[in-house]
Amino acid sequence: MPAIIDGKKISQDIKDELKEQVSLLKEQGKGVSLAVILVGEDPASCVYVRNKKRACEYIGIESLSYELPEDTTEAELLSLIEELNGKDDVNGILVQLPLPKHMDEDKVIKAIDPRKDVDGFHPQSVGALSIGLPGFVSCTPAGIIQLLKRSNVEMEGKNCVIVGRSNIVGKPMALLMLRENATVTVTHSRTKDLPAVTREADILIVAMGKKQFITSEYVKEGAVVIDVGMHRDENNKLCGDVNYDDVAPKCSAITPVPGGVGPMTIAMLMYNCVASANTTEE
Ligand code: GUN
Repeated sequence: MPAIIDGKKISQDIKDELKEQVSLLKEQGKGVSLAVILVGEDPASCVYVRNKKRACEYIGIESLSYELPEDTTEAELLSLIEELNGKDDVNGILVQLPLPKHMDEDKVIKAIDPRKDVDGFHPQSVGALSIGLPGFVSCTPAGIIQLLKRSNVEMEGKNCVIVGRSNIVGKPMALLMLRENATVTVTHSRTKDLPAVTREADILIVAMGKKQFITSEYVKEGAVVIDVGMHRDENNKLCGDVNYDDVAPKCSAITPVPGGVGPMTIAMLMYNCVASANTTEE
């Protein structure tokens, strides 16, 4: 049977390390604070925001909560971001996505000061990642790198195949795996003969958003499989993009859903907040 990559445990370890760092920063008179902006009442977004605030509380990060009504104008949101950009005691700004339809998400993301862009979504953060400059890295792919490193999965020289090319996961994941000296292939909905490509993977990272799509025919014997998907199956149980029961016996290691990649996203958001506080000038 494969090794189960325990995201719950690894994310807890990271949060405990950060808690320690935050308490050291506090001894030096430095606080860490994250502004969390939620527009409207999308139920999933409310749950994510609540979990982010809870993680802040655990680590000792101050969370400033801005819960704005659905009919907030784009100008009002931009003006709040501008105000938070100017506050020296705010280290991170997070605007929960998706935004209501009357707002231009790209414009809103671009308004965040890149020094406070703890989601790593600003074009400057993405550009910095692509040419190897310092900057914030999107939390889910950064969390996957931590899962692999802390599970002692060698990346250098390995074939890594990524399924999905989103701006938030697939593309930054490819850049991070390149940084680790893996040989990287990015596949997507127009890829021809996907199983033939994914079967080449020593490390297969699936972020395609299709429930239990990846079966054993897509996986090489002994591969490491990372599942970014999050769905509900016919019994209303959480499941991923990978058909776990079919794929697991073939792998050397695999992430479960839930308890794999999911918990890492918030841990890395917290990591980015602490990093932001550490790089803030006096
Ligand atoms: N909506 C779903 N995932 C995310 C995320 O990682 N960050 C933000 N800001 N919104 C999201």
